[in-house]
Amino acid sequence: MSVLGGKNILLGVCGSIAAFKAVALASQLNQAGAAVTTILTKDAARFVTPLSFTSVTQRPAYIDLYTPDPGRILHIALAEEADLLAVVPATAHTLGRMAQGLADDLLTCTVLSTQAPVLVAPAMDGGMFTNPATQQNLATLRERGVHVVEPLAGRLASGLVAQGRLPEVDALIAEMRAVLGSGGPLAGKTVVVTAGGTQEPLDPVRYIGNRSSGKMGFALAEAARDYGARVILITGATTAPPPHGMETVSATTAAAMQAAVNEHTAQADALIMAAAVADYRPQTAQGQKTKRTGDSLALTLVENEDILAQVPHTLVKVGFAAETEHMIEHAESKLTRKSADLIVANDVSRADSGFGTDTNQVVILSRDRPPESLPVLAKTEVAETILQRVAALLRHGAGRSC
Ligand code: CTP
Repeated sequence: MSVLGGKNILLGVCGSIAAFKAVALASQLNQAGAAVTTILTKDAARFVTPLSFTSVTQRPAYIDLYTPDPGRILHIALAEEADLLAVVPATAHTLGRMAQGLADDLLTCTVLSTQAPVLVAPAMDGGMFTNPATQQNLATLRERGVHVVEPLAGRLASGLVAQGRLPEVDALIAEMRAVLGSGGPLAGKTVVVTAGGTQEPLDPVRYIGNRSSGKMGFALAEAARDYGARVILITGATTAPPPHGMETVSATTAAAMQAAVNEHTAQADALIMAAAVADYRPQTAQGQKTKRTGDSLALTLVENEDILAQVPHTLVKVGFAAETEHMIEHAESKLTRKSADLIVANDVSRADSGFGTDTNQVVILSRDRPPESLPVLAKTEVAETILQRVAALLRHGAGRSC
């Protein structure tokens, strides 16, 4: 189940033109299984209405601190129930009130009362955001442990192009998932994940590539983030939308990926190699576009080093085995050859597994257990299972002590 499933999220909405995005955010959180209760400031209610939020969340949306709520004090009850209080969008005024500890409406009273983690996503005109007063308020909030989602640079409602745009809903949800997962089974661990396919250049316009979409690697990176890990995602060529809330490094050739993996695994606790790395590269990449000659063309390919195999076994190592025949046999040999703790084998000739699909049917091979065959699952569910196994290996002393 996703880290949002069954969570009580208190969504504070302030009076910014970006308030309309909070409706889409509430809707997607609700669809992901979270119970979303909304508090609007009175200015937020000039842009969007409580009805917008109750319609998409099927839960209450409040404005007034003095809303009758028999048997309980509304702001205290809301504060106690929350697993996360997210102020999206947060205006300069409300950030100022939060930094000063003011309690003059339902939202600020609840912020002061809650023990839940608090996240703010500022959205305002560029000059207001860069103003030292706003920056100082944000610094104060950060010091108190509030998670600040940086606004994006772009075109603002005023026409100015500056920093102040509210990030898109998927980026906001990723930040919320990271906060909710921060105490999870991989808290304090660093996990390096590779995703996508490598492209080995033939000349300035052509390359040898493969059909990897990056979906499985991205799902693994998200699952690791949601379990509380610091994630470094090393990505080759991909077609799937990239995940948020992690450090991302681009590495499109096998050689670049090897250098990135070696650099980032030096301090990591686990490496998950989901990337489809080319086993061979053209011996020479032509400096100019190769011209048609009217004759056949022979290419000489040289072997790339096996990235997973050459990483020292001082951390938990997970590899994939994309096979079209003799799956278990090949995967078992990879477990030993690459000194891996886990090999996740999948039959890429199946329609429901492998490249580009949203589902995968995998068998997990490990050193101390018989192969575990999972049913056809969403790649997100496969990723969660693999990360649970990684967390268990780390708990039992694998990795640094290997
Ligand atoms: N891998 C790697 N470096 C390579 C090739 C593969 O680290 N140069 C990793 C992949 O990311 C994957 C695992 O090794 O986690 C197995 O990849 P796969 O392509 O299935 O196996 P190969 O070792 O390339 O063997 P073969 O192509 O013969 O099946």
